[in-house]
Amino acid sequence: MNDALIQAAIEARQFAYAPYSEFRVGAAVEAAGGEVFTGCNVENASIGLTTCAERNAIAAMIRGGETKWTRIAIATENGARPCGACLQVLQEFASDPAQCRAILIAGETPVADFKFVELLPHPFESRG
Ligand code: THU
Repeated sequence: MNDALIQAAIEARQFAYAPYSEFRVGAAVEAAGGEVFTGCNVENASIGLTTCAERNAIAAMIRGGETKWTRIAIATENGARPCGACLQVLQEFASDPAQCRAILIAGETPVADFKFVELLPHPFESRG
């Protein structure tokens, strides 16, 4: 698949700062307005301060003036699914969890395309 969103996630992965785990992650979110925002994981010697690629992409989206996403592409070496913390943050800004898609990429190859609700069927919601 030669989707610009997929290429953006693969490109973002090149910038991952992951000297501790050596597990590089790139993420690209497509905002409801069509614009694409990217992030990579940024590790730290104080391991708990590491930030994930997905959450960094969401932060870039918010900075870009968008508050809803419709698709996310996540590039790793093995097509890993996003962690629970990232899923909860993605939930916050999902335009419609039943329609939003999460595309997983292993190396350069898309290997899965989930509805977001399949990955996080029971999110935390403070308002019920
Ligand atoms: N990581 C992400 O960037 N996204 C996830 O959803 C899970 C994990 C990063 C954090 C750390 O730099 C490396 O992958 C190994 O856990």
